Amino acid sequence: MDKIENNRALRALIAAWRKADQRIAFVPTMGNLHRGHLSLVERARAEADRVIVSIFVNPLQFGPSEDFARYPRTLEQDVAALESVGADAVYTPAVTEIYPRDLAAMTFVEVPGLSDILCGAYRPGHFRGVATVVNKLFNLVRPDVAIFGEKDFQQVLVIRRMAEDLAMPVAIVSAPTTRESDGLAMSSRNGYLTPEQRKIAPRLFAVLQDVRQRIRHGARDYAAIESAGIDGLKAAGFRPDYLSVRRAADLDSPRDTGDDLVILAAAYLGTTRLIDNVRV
Ligand code: PAF
Repeated sequence: MDKIENNRALRALIAAWRKADQRIAFVPTMGNLHRGHLSLVERARAEADRVIVSIFVNPLQFGPSEDFARYPRTLEQDVAALESVGADAVYTPAVTEIYPRDLAAMTFVEVPGLSDILCGAYRPGHFRGVATVVNKLFNLVRPDVAIFGEKDFQQVLVIRRMAEDLAMPVAIVSAPTTRESDGLAMSSRNGYLTPEQRKIAPRLFAVLQDVRQRIRHGARDYAAIESAGIDGLKAAGFRPDYLSVRRAADLDSPRDTGDDLVILAAAYLGTTRLIDNVRV
């Protein structure tokens, strides 16, 4: 597996792959890889001749009081895990490689609307940071296809919209959430949980499933359904940011009974913010 740390070496590798007419799949990550990430790499393997993974903890998508400094960085294990699933290359740039100027002076990409609701309302600037770094990584890697996990449902929609609006020549593929045996969605942030919080954490998925059941059984008063879900999270010990029933296509509020729906939630256990979602 090629291990690349700077843009010049990355461009040379990509040029060689392109010259050999190879199809490239890309999996952007922030590292601390778990089975969920590895399933994205496996999906990428099925999509292309070459698979490249980036590991970059992107400062632009963290708020000033968020966990950028303590975000787990486990490069050695990550490289070994990527080798075990047959990735062809890993790109691990320094912050200055991606952001050669002050963060505040860098050009950015903003997807209006979609970036301002749900997680975007609670994490101002987060999706601008995501869209900007993903755009830059796409420009460097020039992938044919890029794979993202559905746990970050809103993120997938933001990236799809960006790619569509800016006519980026890349297919955006989303892959299902990988879960622990008790239902907890895999996330690098699960490692922050205390043993006590870890026992509570799967209730997030359980509450989302309860809400889904109510809708499947015909409930349509979404405000009441959401409020019952939030009460369920509070009763389990969470401090919810939101639990919301939305249209899966655009995260707008449901309008008619034919809408394809998704239920999304974000909630804190102590200082750890967890997100999850289920399709109805
Ligand atoms: O989902 C993530 O890990 C990050 O938001 C991403 C897409 C790698 C951008 O930094």
